[in-house]
Amino acid sequence: MKELDPNKLKQINNSALLALCILLILGGGLVWEVFTSSSKIFSYEEQTVLGGCGVTNNFVYETGNSPEGELLFQVKCQRCHLVDRKMTGPALMGVRNRWADSTDLYSWIKNSQKFLETGDKYAIDLYKAYGTIMPPFPELSDEQIAELLIYVSP
Ligand code: HEC
Repeated sequence: MKELDPNKLKQINNSALLALCILLILGGGLVWEVFTSSSKIFSYEEQTVLGGCGVTNNFVYETGNSPEGELLFQVKCQRCHLVDRKMTGPALMGVRNRWADSTDLYSWIKNSQKFLETGDKYAIDLYKAYGTIMPPFPELSDEQIAELLIYVSP
């Protein structure tokens, strides 16, 4: 059997190492991209019943681009809310589509208990379903609420 030339072996090893390095650099760049981009992509499952069979669909949801909204969300809302799943409170993704009147939504966020006094049916049902008092946020300006909503409900 012909012996492999050790120099040649070394060469092969070196090119494999080089290829690995390139892969690592490219991969690292991608991971960095994902961590530094301010919009987040969530994937979530939803069950639909089609003709009696439960079908699981996978969806992706991308948050809006608002670094200020994201920060406010993390500091003030995340202990009860997630974007893509319910926790103490409902998942906030797409929440704007659930409120017919955006002024009501702003009033709710500023003071949910006070808003409940208006007798709004959607809000009352929501409160009944979750049964936890959402604290008031009188310190939030309309601009800050707008940024929060851009983030969770672009
Ligand atoms: C202490 C827990 C808690 C915190 C903190 C909190 N929420 Fe809530 N939120 C709730 C609960 C619980 C509900 C459901 C209604 C209820 O029980 O009052 C709710 C409901 C909502 C709704 C209506 C959701 C829908 O599906 O229509 C919005 C919008 C909302 N919260 C926004 C916010 C924002 C924005 C913040 C941060 C500034 C925040 N919440 C902080 C607990 C919280």
